[in-house]
Amino acid sequence: MSNSNYLFDNAASEARQRFGALSALFDPTTFRHIEALNIGQGCRCWEVGAGGPTVSNWLAERVGASGRVLATDINTSWVSEHLDHTVEVLQHDVTQDDPPAGQFDLVHARLVLSHLPARGKALRRMVASLRPGGWLLVEDFDKVIPVRCIDAYLPEHHRANKLHAGVYALLAQRGADLEYARRLPRIFRDAGLTQVGADAYLPVAIPAGNVLSVANITQVRDALIEQQLATQDEIDAHVAAIADATITVGTPPLISAWGQRA
Ligand SMILES: C[S@@+](CC[C@H](N)C(=O)[O-])C[C@H]1O[C@@H](n2cnc3c(N)ncnc32)[C@H](O)[C@@H]1O
Repeated sequence: MSNSNYLFDNAASEARQRFGALSALFDPTTFRHIEALNIGQGCRCWEVGAGGPTVSNWLAERVGASGRVLATDINTSWVSEHLDHTVEVLQHDVTQDDPPAGQFDLVHARLVLSHLPARGKALRRMVASLRPGGWLLVEDFDKVIPVRCIDAYLPEHHRANKLHAGVYALLAQRGADLEYARRLPRIFRDAGLTQVGADAYLPVAIPAGNVLSVANITQVRDALIEQQLATQDEIDAHVAAIADATITVGTPPLISAWGQRA
């Protein structure tokens, strides 16, 4: 059983909004990378910290009946909703549990490892699960740009940036590494991977960013207030500014890094 300290616990009702928003924001980027790695018919894939079902479903269609897709998470309640019947689901803590059986052509984790204090151990397990020639693809936020509204021309944008700075502080308290993603190429080389590469995608102001902002801030509202990182009024005003379309909030850049097991 996991003793995870993960801030955005999937048990909260906001998880539904979060996974819908993450899918809308980042699935096209994820799919582009997986296509570029030539993952196709017959491939075996491990989706780590799956969250919702969209990436696993897309993989299942891509690898077909001769392939395999395994979706793991510490809380599998959301990935199991509307999931393709061919996808295997396993409750699994990537920092503690034995790696799943089998060797994989692709191991993918999006927005998972930066949250985990034992991320180094998790990454070693993921690399060990690759077949020779298999690909690791890790995607995570990097606070290279430490604000959600990069053109902050209204007080509402500054308030959004302040509230998200509060969320970053809560994440750091839980052992998240907010600059993990920029180090991935170095980490991949140190892990013995070859053909290492990385790029980034930055949503500046699109509607799913608003959904993600409201879901995340609402879920940790009590902690923000208790720690005096925000007031109830600021949170309410932020949610209202998004609801009446006064502002559109971005996300940090998503860095995607890939490397191949020799
Ligand atoms: C921010 S969500 C990202 C979900 C999905 N990968 C995406 O990008 O839409 C992080 C996910 O990692 C899962 N998670 C957190 N700690 C984990 C662990 N130790 N092992 C496996 N999954 C974990 C969470 O339950 C959650 O579903």
